Amino acid sequence: MKLRNFIGITAMLLSVGTVRGASSMDSFIDSLMGKMTLEEKIGQLNLPVSGILTGDAKSENVAENIRNGQTGAVFGVRGADECRKMQRIAVEESRLGIPLIFGLDVIHGFETSFPIPLAQAASWNPRLVEEAAKASAREASASGISWTFSPMVDVTREPRWGRVAEGAGEDPYLGSRMAEAMVKGYQGNDLSDPETVLACVKHFALYGAPEGGRDYNTVIMDRQTAMNEYLPTYKAAIDAGAGSLMASFNEFEGIPATANEYLLDDLLRRQWGFDGFVVSDYTAIWEMIAHGLGDLRECTRRAMNAGIDMDMVSAGFTKYLPELIKEGKVDMARVDKAVRNILEAKYRLGLFEDPYKYCDPGREKRVQHSDAHRRLAVELAAEGSVLLKNDSSMLPLPAKGKRIALIGPLADAPWEMPGNWNVPGSKSPNVSLLQGMRKEFGDGVAYAKGCNALSDPVLEKRVSGDFSLHRDNRTDSAMLSEALAVAEGSDVIVAALGELMNMTGEGAARADIRIPEPQRELLKALKGTGKPVVLVLFTGRPLVLTEDIDGLDAILNVWFAGSEAGDAVAAMLSGKLEPSGRLPISFPWHVGQIPIHYNEKNSGRPYPGGGLPYYKYRNSYMDIPNKPLYPFGYGQGYTSFSYGDVVLSSAEMEHDGKVTVTVPVTNTGRREGKEVVQLYIRDLAASSTRPVKELKGFEKISLAPGETKEVTFTVDANTLGFYDHDLRFVCEPGEFDIMAGPDSESLRKARLTVR
Ligand code: NOJ
Repeated sequence: MKLRNFIGITAMLLSVGTVRGASSMDSFIDSLMGKMTLEEKIGQLNLPVSGILTGDAKSENVAENIRNGQTGAVFGVRGADECRKMQRIAVEESRLGIPLIFGLDVIHGFETSFPIPLAQAASWNPRLVEEAAKASAREASASGISWTFSPMVDVTREPRWGRVAEGAGEDPYLGSRMAEAMVKGYQGNDLSDPETVLACVKHFALYGAPEGGRDYNTVIMDRQTAMNEYLPTYKAAIDAGAGSLMASFNEFEGIPATANEYLLDDLLRRQWGFDGFVVSDYTAIWEMIAHGLGDLRECTRRAMNAGIDMDMVSAGFTKYLPELIKEGKVDMARVDKAVRNILEAKYRLGLFEDPYKYCDPGREKRVQHSDAHRRLAVELAAEGSVLLKNDSSMLPLPAKGKRIALIGPLADAPWEMPGNWNVPGSKSPNVSLLQGMRKEFGDGVAYAKGCNALSDPVLEKRVSGDFSLHRDNRTDSAMLSEALAVAEGSDVIVAALGELMNMTGEGAARADIRIPEPQRELLKALKGTGKPVVLVLFTGRPLVLTEDIDGLDAILNVWFAGSEAGDAVAAMLSGKLEPSGRLPISFPWHVGQIPIHYNEKNSGRPYPGGGLPYYKYRNSYMDIPNKPLYPFGYGQGYTSFSYGDVVLSSAEMEHDGKVTVTVPVTNTGRREGKEVVQLYIRDLAASSTRPVKELKGFEKISLAPGETKEVTFTVDANTLGFYDHDLRFVCEPGEFDIMAGPDSESLRKARLTVR
């Protein structure tokens, strides 16, 4: 058989006329499905993991299953040659020669690591985020990958949750803009372009709201809250054309998302019109046994009937669907629909025309880690880094003449720079902060590690695996003495502290989200020297910094800034680049405030603000403030801005009309700088309670010293509306505050009446 199969497919393509377009796709797929056996159909719904990723030598089974038509896609292979080998088996050795899709978690870059998604969101620059996704697609698609399990669009108010690093933070509006940007970047305008990949929106739904912040945990939420505050990001990604979606591990309303007909069928397909395919998360069908839904057979039935099209790794579909169909427990029409959804994706990717289009070793060599991609990574790192504190304009540091002591366990740790989810296993070098700073400030930059990142070596091994081999075996006091000696000989200390990259990501919840203990001790000792101290903070989540900020001159939060982190951070420290990020998520004052988010409801007894920290019989704590340490939207830069009054084109709006909001912003400092102008609204009286503030627009602008720009936003029913108690989207008449400013707390407002 073999080559003949693909020739057969090509002949079918020719016989149905032009390859693009819905009707030619439909007739091509009709004709192909007409030839498929039940087993071959079910095979298309099966997504195994390749042994190459797990190292458990299952790849031979995978190859055999591909040959037998029992595999529709493969997860975990990378490399043009490796993917070509597997594709060749599918195309030339399986009966019908249907090509495979190769999926991988290309989360924030491939060979070039871009900043983690939370840092990208902090850029408030969808154009750059789209560019980074495009570059990721260019690199991944050259290495055989046609499908990325990204973007993760789960809104979260849970900094304890490790996967906060992978999303865009706490806000549905900012998250939606990031979701769209990533989908557009990955998929481009034409999925059949060999430099694009299929996006997979995940995790549907509400995975970012686990109780207690523990990964995979139960989600308890009402539908109205979900629709208004958590679901818009998924909808935005789908409206941007995302071709696939991953169901989440968690339950919603007592039913795991993987078997949740309301989510997967009613909401996603019927109400939102999603026409791509839905994949389960890794072993999620099997995991419903532990959720308590029955055995794998029953979980398979529930998943298929609810709307899962592709089974990632559980192998429940291949094992049980034939008998479930025979017994009438699963409808053949539902299975056919799932097969069609997957074949359509393959068709749109152009795989039937050229199954090897992503397997070109020449292109693979050319595009990886290119200068252009590395420059983009540096730019995005600067746009996403957030200057949290900068007393007496401590930063930027003068490039010459100061003796700098660079101290901390993250200072010379190139492997930590990319951040969590660097799964593709980039072979390209990562630039450490020490390397970057010596390039920027000269070889005189003195270095000491100061302490290990974590005090417990066992925990460090469990967190970091092989990376824990970098642990220093000297005693704590020996490391500290060395650091203090280095500090003594300097004019300024740069402390590179924070989390290890694998302290966030999947299965990486923390209850105490402060800088780990040995590093906080080190920081205290460094402050004790009396020298100015700049903290360069590495983190995948908001940290509680309340006890650390006193005595610090500057805090530059760089998250995990990607493979070029060292160069980018050094350039920010010297002032060649300006950190222009703004927080996409609140930094709590205390862990006890969580969940904390700016768009909270007022309650009937709101905290009066100002004056005392504690008011009895008010919505407040006895022992800590209500406010976060650093609010959503906050970040400083190397210049300063002032805002004028918020002016509406009209104080009244017909309910189907619109008004323009204008706010003048002036650069009052001495250097050019970027500012994120933010628009918020508040619905003052409505049929349901509404948040005290909701982000509804933003624009990142660049202003020369002394320059003023009028930033305008348009407000209409879509801006002001919400899902009411009956889940209808409504814009109700009444009064609204329209607010603008540099962050969610420093706002000027105007009043709008909707008739
Ligand atoms: C489980 C994660 O939840 C998901 O985000 C990821 O895409 C899959 N594993 C595959 O790695």
